[in-house]
Amino acid sequence: MEDKKSLIIAIDGPAGSGKSTTAHLLAKRLGYLYLDTGAMYRTLTWKALKDKVNIKDEKALSQLAKKIQICLKPGSNVETKVYLDNKDVTSLIRSPQVNKYVSLVSIVKGVREAMVAQQKKLGKNGGIVAEGRDTTTVVFPEADIKIFLNASLEERVERRWKEEKTKGIFSNKEKVAAGLLKRDRIDSQRKISPLKISEEAIVIDNTHLSISQTVDKILKQVKKTVK
Ligand code: DC
Repeated sequence: MEDKKSLIIAIDGPAGSGKSTTAHLLAKRLGYLYLDTGAMYRTLTWKALKDKVNIKDEKALSQLAKKIQICLKPGSNVETKVYLDNKDVTSLIRSPQVNKYVSLVSIVKGVREAMVAQQKKLGKNGGIVAEGRDTTTVVFPEADIKIFLNASLEERVERRWKEEKTKGIFSNKEKVAAGLLKRDRIDSQRKISPLKISEEAIVIDNTHLSISQTVDKILKQVKKTVK
């Protein structure tokens, strides 16, 4: 039987598909490391905005991506704690401003190369649940289990809108939908590592599933894989 600790589980999907919560809980259940790759792109975007780096300056963004020290640690609730040079940036990287620019920062070749190299290093010994847009296709094409998580646009908007409300951000659903659609478009149509369904991926539509039902579905797959 394969050592349960050594599996690589990769989950991709669009914004609001419940990837982060699913991946976090799944990692907890398995005692695995949870790798939130989106948080890494968000942290870089936050830092670039803070340092007033021109978002169109690919060279400057790539240099920043190579230089910064991002550290992910399990938090007490469903959120992973994100540190940049020892500063806790967990909530700062979820701001509407970061939401707006992160897709643009993550299309830069040098940025992706630096991030993917860090992610591969973190996963090299397995025992990891990696989540993002390209974890099944580019970061861990050798993953033992590949999942593509999706939900209807309506449901994704509802989830994102509620999430923002709990953070005191009062937006309207039309605005949230426009933001999600724009990110979906940039993430899926970019030249480098677009969001797409890997051939070996198991597609789970969780529009009508709770997070624990989604996690259970993936755990069934884990059981099959380690048998
Ligand atoms: O999953 P998220 O919403 O936190 O991701 C934020 C952005 O980061 C998303 O719009 C695209 C980018 N991203 C990416 O390009 N590749 C990944 N593996 C993860 C996220």
